[in-house]
Amino acid sequence: MDLTSLSMAEIWKLYAEYYGRLRLLHPYRQLLLTAISEMNSHINLKPTSTIFDAAGGDGGLLWALQSDPALPKPRVLLIDQSPDMIARAQCEPYDGHVDCRVADIDQPHTTWFIPEPVDAVHCGHAVYASNDPCALIRRFAAVTKPNGVLVFTNPMPEPNMMAVLKEHLAVVAAAGLDVGAELAMLQTELAPLVAINDEILRHSGQLHMSDEATTLAWLEPRYWQLQNHYRTYAGNDLMVVATRTKVEV
Ligand SMILES: C[S@@+](CC[C@H](N)C(=O)[O-])C[C@H]1O[C@@H](n2cnc3c(N)ncnc32)[C@H](O)[C@@H]1O
Repeated sequence: MDLTSLSMAEIWKLYAEYYGRLRLLHPYRQLLLTAISEMNSHINLKPTSTIFDAAGGDGGLLWALQSDPALPKPRVLLIDQSPDMIARAQCEPYDGHVDCRVADIDQPHTTWFIPEPVDAVHCGHAVYASNDPCALIRRFAAVTKPNGVLVFTNPMPEPNMMAVLKEHLAVVAAAGLDVGAELAMLQTELAPLVAINDEILRHSGQLHMSDEATTLAWLEPRYWQLQNHYRTYAGNDLMVVATRTKVEV
């Protein structure tokens, strides 16, 4: 696949076609499930809660909420700039109420189709795509109820997909499954994603993959109280959990 002449918009469009394959990987599934358990432990999710999933892609969060029958099924408002991602998110089976819209996280929050402040904001693996992460996280504050929770993950500089694959294969081995067959299957299935990821990294000058100090500095203490942060996704991402103060944006 020759992707070298594609713009970022074209790359996201192509990504939509293959992105769901990431769910083959245990560390990616775990990333989504951990984001939900972090939200749950801070605001005790209920069917009446609302989660805003910013740049929610093809609905990975919906998949994770649906995958555990014990989890409540809150209302999910999902936006993404890619109509192709949104089309896929709309097809994701989910027992709760869901509203998926094409919208841009870099535009004012009033364009995000959020009728009233939400209980939780999730932004998985996407803050780095914003033009201005600090301004984005301030806009998240504008749509979150006091004491509501923000959970986001962001890639560290120079992500290493091999570490993700290794962690996945360790889980496969521990389950007594055929590691060689799994590796062969993944090499085929993930080849397009690996090529697209390489291309995204070629645009890293216009993206915000960030170290821990830079990422935490995006949280303005006026609006967010940091609750937790740790490396996840085989060390490739930082998971950040913060709760909303009462100060209005
Ligand atoms: C790596 S994917 C993450 C998808 C999902 N949040 C997840 O955790 O699997 C990044 C997503 O950000 C979206 N995106 C990139 N720039 C955006 C923008 N300015 N506004 C809204 N979505 C954007 C892309 O279309 C893509 O779906």
